[in-house]
Amino acid sequence: MNRLVKCGLENRIGSDCLKWDGLRERFGNEDLIAMWVADMDFKTPQPVIDALKERVEHGIFGYHMIPDSYYEAFINWEKEKHGYDIKREWIRFSPGVVPALFWFINILTNPGDSCIVMGPVYYPFHHAIEENNRKLIFNNLKNNNGIYTIDFESFERDIIENKVKLFILSSPHNPVGRVWTKEELKKALDICKANNVFVLADEIHQDIIIGDKKQIPAATVGDYDNILVTLTAATKTFNLAACQNSFVIIPDNKIRERFDEYFKSIGGDCGNIFGYIAVEAAYRYGEEWLNEILAKIKENYEYTKEILSMHLPHVVISPLEGTYLAWYDFSYYINEKDIKNFFQYKCNLAVDYGSWFGEAGKGHIRINLATERKIVEEAMNNIIKQLL
Ligand SMILES: Cc1ncc(COP(=O)(O)O)c(C=O)c1O
Repeated sequence: MNRLVKCGLENRIGSDCLKWDGLRERFGNEDLIAMWVADMDFKTPQPVIDALKERVEHGIFGYHMIPDSYYEAFINWEKEKHGYDIKREWIRFSPGVVPALFWFINILTNPGDSCIVMGPVYYPFHHAIEENNRKLIFNNLKNNNGIYTIDFESFERDIIENKVKLFILSSPHNPVGRVWTKEELKKALDICKANNVFVLADEIHQDIIIGDKKQIPAATVGDYDNILVTLTAATKTFNLAACQNSFVIIPDNKIRERFDEYFKSIGGDCGNIFGYIAVEAAYRYGEEWLNEILAKIKENYEYTKEILSMHLPHVVISPLEGTYLAWYDFSYYINEKDIKNFFQYKCNLAVDYGSWFGEAGKGHIRINLATERKIVEEAMNNIIKQLL
């Protein structure tokens, strides 16, 4: 824990945060350098803290309603930042993007149906499919020396051969860091539309854009309303995961009716008041903070590229176009079977192992760069020291 003090992260000590305080439970060692789960080591924007304080001072926490101003802040953000014109009546609540994935698999498919993902991909996608007794189909991305692209031919073939009913899109893509182009999105969605495949577009990382590419919401690239649901949130953007507040966007009346019916059947609720307060304040007043954080993440990423290419030139580093989760291929230096032993026991790091994201992730690790530079330096030094 001294490390956290030295690195200016004393705020995280004993705050019951999963990333650091959960190290013992998840990795069996509380002294690791935590660079795994996707949250930031940074304080949320001050206006969010102020808005929450003000509401706490109010002191009455009876049943609440969702204020119009919350919807207004989100709709404006989507329109101004992403060019997505969302109607108020399309929006529904979920405490998180992951719960919404589980719900929609139940709403849009039947047990035994096939659901497709593009591997390597965020592992809760796999869980949502398999834990609901659907068949998980991996259509792996093409990997050309760390640059990932969609294999459209095999994507369509896998859909047809497996009679796929639903596709979960990660955009930007966790863990390979791609920000999909309009052409890529359109091509994938056209294949889905032609084959009656529903699409869940998980766009939770939409605001974490590190490279020069522009993030494009899937819903804006064509007419896909009758197959597409978008899931997004302010929680990654402004480090508010514990506030449990996310957006489900359903432009199609029929899908919305099915969602509403399902939500009623599970006793769905609208979450807690603090999530709404935090999200609204973040969208209204958080942009400057976000720009500073993005610059920090980019610097951290550039630093890892520079130091690794200097000392370990055979590590393949995927371009970090989006997300704060960088993707490194260490297969030249380390056998897959030794990966955990190497990173956890020799380098003292808690990272996400590539194999968690599917077969195509083997040989890789995912490192969370939304942290202080000193943490990144210590991690890189530990790795380099072991391999030189
Ligand atoms: C692609 C992706 N979707 C969803 C989530 C989590 O969403 P939530 O906390 O809203 O359930 C994450 C968090 O890492 C993620 O990377």
